[in-house]
Amino acid sequence: MPVLRSAFIALSKNRALRRFCEHSRFGRKMSSRFVAGLEIGDALRVAEAVNQQGMLVSLDSLGESAEAHRAAEIYHQLLDLISANKLKANISVKLTQMGLVLSPELAGSIAESLARHAKATGNFVRIDMEDSSLTQVTLDIVRRLHAKTELRGSIGIVIQAYLYRSQADVEQLIVEGIRVRLCKGAYKEPAEVAFPAKADVDKSYMQLTKLLLESSIYHGLATHDEAMIEAAKAFARERGIEPARFEFQMLYGVRRDLQRSLIREGYNVRVYVPFGREWYPYFMRRLAERPANVIFLAKNFFRS
Ligand code: FDA
Repeated sequence: MPVLRSAFIALSKNRALRRFCEHSRFGRKMSSRFVAGLEIGDALRVAEAVNQQGMLVSLDSLGESAEAHRAAEIYHQLLDLISANKLKANISVKLTQMGLVLSPELAGSIAESLARHAKATGNFVRIDMEDSSLTQVTLDIVRRLHAKTELRGSIGIVIQAYLYRSQADVEQLIVEGIRVRLCKGAYKEPAEVAFPAKADVDKSYMQLTKLLLESSIYHGLATHDEAMIEAAKAFARERGIEPARFEFQMLYGVRRDLQRSLIREGYNVRVYVPFGREWYPYFMRRLAERPANVIFLAKNFFRS
């Protein structure tokens, strides 16, 4: 399996295959399991359908090549459309799309304008976490914005359980009252900064889950790992933490059975819904996470 995983990661960077897939009907059909579609309208349709199943949504506009202000404009449109269509959805934003690498000041000012817009429309901006070279600057931006009284509660962050630093970060974020999405972490990180063994990442995930659940802030637990989910449920039950005080989060198209069963049990579930023309790297990363998805997709492709 590690060989297949590396093969998919390599393929995710293959430009010719990417061009072919993103422009072919075949590619789009394959990706539709994990990606809502190419346009904002596709994302809104999927969000509505997900809402109808009793789940919340976070919308993610895929793409790394657009100019920062153009990328931000899509999110501003989304905030207005979510409000106009009364969707139960917020937005997930990557600061690298907003120019973070070249100019943290630009990314910070774009995040601020999105947080102001979210506040005005009763919504919330989740800042995704990227590779470890960007952890500190991403935290600094979210903290600076959250500290502005008028933006409080409109912006939150993601913490990756695989990083050694995450426990200290979570403790500090709780003191500051910042909403956290906890995930295991998706980037290839060196052993100097992240646990190399999956067992240690899982242990860290559970420790951080407990810290978050015990705080009085509404956080998100993003995972498809049933062991993590069961342990979180058991811990919450044991401590008398009501299901309404937190949410589980999963990716669109991944473990839909688990998403539905959590809803039936009375938990909040938010589905992360990506869309956009530049869907290929995201799609290949989902295959890399679980190469068995290829067989699953192929079966469904020929069935429909
Ligand atoms: P793990 O990888 O241990 O998998 C556990 C089980 O889940 C697997 O055995 C399988 O059953 C199932 N599963 C996992 N992935 C699957 C897939 N693609 N298809 C089918 N089944 C699958 N990362 C990051 O670095 N920054 C971020 O901002 C975010 N944001 C984010 C938001 C949301 C809502 C989610 C769900 C995830 C993220 N992530 C992320 C990704 C995260 O860090 C992690 O890489 C993936 O969620 C996979 O880890 P799991 O916790 O699911 O467990």
